[in-house]
Amino acid sequence: MKQTGTGAISLTGHCFWVGAYDPQLRIFDELYPTESGTTYNAYLIRGEQKTVLVDSAEERCFDEFFSRLSACCSVDEINVIVTNHTEHDHSGSIGRLLEMNPGIEVWGSPTAMRFLREQLNRDFNAHAVKDGERLDLGGRTLRFILAPFLHWPDTLFTWVEEEGLLISGDAFGAHFCPPAGRIFDDEVGAFYSDFKLYFDTIVRPFKSFVQKALKKVEGLPVRMICPSHGPVRRTAVAESLAAYKGWSQQQCLEKREIVLLEHSPHGTTRAMGDRVVRQLEAAGYAVQRFAAVTLEEEAFQSALECADGLIVGAATINRDAGPPVWRALTHLSTVTPKNRLAIVYGAYGWSGEAVALIEQRLLGQRYVLAAPGVRWQFTPTAQDVADCQAQVAALLGALAQDATSPA
Ligand code: FEO
Repeated sequence: MKQTGTGAISLTGHCFWVGAYDPQLRIFDELYPTESGTTYNAYLIRGEQKTVLVDSAEERCFDEFFSRLSACCSVDEINVIVTNHTEHDHSGSIGRLLEMNPGIEVWGSPTAMRFLREQLNRDFNAHAVKDGERLDLGGRTLRFILAPFLHWPDTLFTWVEEEGLLISGDAFGAHFCPPAGRIFDDEVGAFYSDFKLYFDTIVRPFKSFVQKALKKVEGLPVRMICPSHGPVRRTAVAESLAAYKGWSQQQCLEKREIVLLEHSPHGTTRAMGDRVVRQLEAAGYAVQRFAAVTLEEEAFQSALECADGLIVGAATINRDAGPPVWRALTHLSTVTPKNRLAIVYGAYGWSGEAVALIEQRLLGQRYVLAAPGVRWQFTPTAQDVADCQAQVAALLGALAQDATSPA
């Protein structure tokens, strides 16, 4: 491992890792588990005429990041900062660098320029790049590849042509903090599970955009993948690309399928579910049935992505749906479903709010309700059963209409 100054790590003769380690972080953005900590990766590229910094670091880590950067160059020598992505963990130190050297140009996608202006609340020397635009540093050339929605609309890849470095933003990232002084994948131990978890929690809702971005970099002679978090891949380049290709493919079977999510503390909602399953199967649909209380999250996400429809059967508990239902429904925003038709039903004892509350959640996630919700007090009557059957029939009718509509 080659190091430069106080901890900057040389990737190639002209490119350096100047990021920051955050080994103690346990929850990223107050959302995602980071049991292995993380890093905020920033990269410095020195050409004969220009010096460019790609991304910065979480502002809280500014001192560490700046000391590493200063080991490579003075802030006065930086001509351009490229912001691959303007989430605070990468853009958070840009403002302080601009205060030190207001002459620095900031390059990024048009959306990134808008976002950064809103973050800094002041003007700066901005340059919105076009897809494929190049920046000649003198002996080294950067090419900018717009790769939106990985995982924000502003995201960009920076390709260092002569070195074969793909600086990829959050794509290919992993919340994993190597021991200080190390950043390459072959010297940090196993981090596959962190790589996969990162994809599942942050990138997964944008699978189709991953596919588009991968097409854009197909054929590039990638020597290293340099993401914004975790190890730089210099060994597992092909494996990382293949993993993203595989994970981002929709692997739906050629069958008509409904997801049924259930929460039934006293069994009556599940008993209605048994009838619903029979009705759906008689109409030619396979049913993937999930108990909210023992939910296998990844299987549920995959099922949502491939399902033709979603049914939620949930009882009312304390004027609400139960916590397992709400936990399961958080996954609606982590996937891109094939179809967004849904219905909701459920039992209650004396108040019965769950059905309407769940319907609101589904509408908020752009689902369309094929029929109004059905709810019943304690044991369903023959009329309640008939109402539920009519509701399922309405869902089947809407699905049939979908199938015959021109695309
Ligand atoms: Fe690592 Fe989307 O920020």
